[in-house]
Amino acid sequence: MLEHRDRAHVENRIRAGVLEQGTVDLLGEAGVDSRLRREGLVHHGIELALDGVRQRVDLTELTGGKSVTVYGQTEVVRDLIAARRAVDAPLLFEVDALRIHDFDSAAPRISYQHNGAARELVCDFIAGCDGFHGVCRPSIAAGALTVYERVYPFAWLGILAETAPPADELIYARHRRGFALYSMRSPTRARCYLQCSPDEDLALWPDERVWQELQLRLGDDGARLLKPGRVLDKSVTPMRSFVAEPMRFGRLFLVGDAAHIVPPTGAKGLNLAAADVHYLAEALLAFYRNDDASALDNYSAKALARVWKAQRFSWWMTSLLHNFADASAFDERVRNAELQYVLSSRAALTALAENYVGLPF
Ligand code: DHB
Repeated sequence: MLEHRDRAHVENRIRAGVLEQGTVDLLGEAGVDSRLRREGLVHHGIELALDGVRQRVDLTELTGGKSVTVYGQTEVVRDLIAARRAVDAPLLFEVDALRIHDFDSAAPRISYQHNGAARELVCDFIAGCDGFHGVCRPSIAAGALTVYERVYPFAWLGILAETAPPADELIYARHRRGFALYSMRSPTRARCYLQCSPDEDLALWPDERVWQELQLRLGDDGARLLKPGRVLDKSVTPMRSFVAEPMRFGRLFLVGDAAHIVPPTGAKGLNLAAADVHYLAEALLAFYRNDDASALDNYSAKALARVWKAQRFSWWMTSLLHNFADASAFDERVRNAELQYVLSSRAALTALAENYVGLPF
């Protein structure tokens, strides 16, 4: 495992925080779930708010017993690093000048620098888990990949704050002033987001303004529930949908954000990456144990089938809950009608719930 950034960086950067049931089960099978079981917050529902009026969606009842677990991606990364260290398997941080070579042959190689020395790794396979800005996807010959993309005309302003979560569950709010999301990381830490513009100037958002706006958009008794606390982090997250196909090129396999990005609404990013890892791990086991390469050959098609369903859901949640500056009055009314319909129809709520807790692998 070769990582460009230093350990402190990857163990501290703040990412999303909702694990699907299937992701929790995978971490369990891999034996890296002991802290997750202790500290993860199991959620059986979410709340949806339309212009301040909140309604609970009972995920567990609608899905026949499933739930999600609120546990930061940052914590998952820390647990995985600890597990890798515990078995003394190679995990290098601060790797520079990484290049991948000959991945369309039977002997792919990775060249890189570590501690000032040039090194080379000869591989059977390369898993490109290096994210949207990594080197693996751009190493594939132009013309071999097809990219599908949508960039949204808004972003999320996110804060991490020291305050007791005011509600037991996440609140996704559609509001005339824009989307808001109330989430949490622990019994003493809230993570909240506000729809903002992609080039939003954080200097215009002192903490008081963030709290005020959250209270307005979360509505109902939002002002009473949400107690302003010390803000530990404030950042802007851009929103895009992106898929590069195929996810395999010779002996290079693209995994997670290296191949696809979802807008954050619905928290599918990490969960999609976990599903890719699951498919690739099973395929590698079949190859090494049974000399059977068929699952490796099938990896891209299998992963993409699930990726597109999560793309659809993330796009839908995003479209349903955000304000679009270019929307006509007609579009706005259709969107409001759709949310009212979803909130009033068991069939529609079931569709939302089964996607939210995660489709089967
Ligand atoms: C969080 C992020 C999401 O995108 C989401 O849909 C729910 C929660 C979070 O960071 O907690």
